[in-house]
Amino acid sequence: MTANALLQTAKALVADDKGLLAMDESNPTCNQRFAKLGIAQNEEMRRNWRELMATTPALSDCISGAILFDETIRQRTRAGLPFAIALIEAGIIPGIKVDTGAKDLAGHAHEKITEGLDGLRDRLAEYARMGARFAKWRAVFALGDGKPSRASIDANAHALARYAALCQEAMLVPIIEPEVLMDGDHSLAKCAEVTEGVLHIVFDQLYAQNVELEAILLKPNMVLPGLMCQHKFTDDEIADATKSCLLRAVPAAVPGIVFLSGGQSGKLASAGLNAINLSFNALTSRPWPLSFSFARAIQHPAMDIWKGADANIVSAQQALLHRARCNRAACRGTYNALTDSSIQPD
Ligand code: 13P
Repeated sequence: MTANALLQTAKALVADDKGLLAMDESNPTCNQRFAKLGIAQNEEMRRNWRELMATTPALSDCISGAILFDETIRQRTRAGLPFAIALIEAGIIPGIKVDTGAKDLAGHAHEKITEGLDGLRDRLAEYARMGARFAKWRAVFALGDGKPSRASIDANAHALARYAALCQEAMLVPIIEPEVLMDGDHSLAKCAEVTEGVLHIVFDQLYAQNVELEAILLKPNMVLPGLMCQHKFTDDEIADATKSCLLRAVPAAVPGIVFLSGGQSGKLASAGLNAINLSFNALTSRPWPLSFSFARAIQHPAMDIWKGADANIVSAQQALLHRARCNRAACRGTYNALTDSSIQPD
């Protein structure tokens, strides 16, 4: 692949109002979600769940790329295809989560540092050989009681930038995911202030590490009040706060922004994305496509239906496709939560 191919991959991931399906939960996270639904927590069931998603008919109408976990990229579908190849044959670009998780940050109680840089160059080369074309690394920032500290922001931003530089060297598009968490009672304004501050430092580090901004995607949180915040904000207030934050902190060279859902329900995440896209309509031109890279907000309704049973695969796939369609509509600003269930293919 040439450097130009890297740019083309980044653009393809946000083209045509499509977005990403994050299906890269670590084994413990996937198992926790299975346990809640009484699904057996083992490698074969994780494989079955990922196969259900990757083989959903017509998924590529709305989904441009899917993010795999290390276990999954080494597995095969029942038809005998490695997952990355099955996705490519379905018209979906395969990606891979390459961080090894958020660990306690020494010296900073209740703060995390995402690890995974050791040996990353070799792992990226292997993933590229397996067919991955992009990668993901998630940093997390809890909010409240003096958090996030400058130390945790600097350390995580530095790691994100070093990961991104290694990805580009390996011809993988890095998705940069700095997530300000929703837990807590903080206000919308506080989330906006912290998210903007984090993004400034992340882009400063990307610049310092010579990362080509034209060949990354940013995966931020929407600017939201804390889950325990007493005051309720409208979709428009949330969209305006998110818009201001991104316009101030994200260079226009970035080819696309793909939001995480952060634990919002499927409908709330679609409504938020829709309102954000509409809020940009007032500008004469928007700097970046604003799309999605949701995990829970796309997967959960389908997993609730599947419950681990083959007999439920078709209806679970329909539910997955439905959420993907809703989110594509949200990228266009045509989603309406009140008519969610009647959204049709175009
Ligand atoms: P959620 O959409 O469930 O927040 O997950 C996105 C993701 O990929 C987390 O790294």
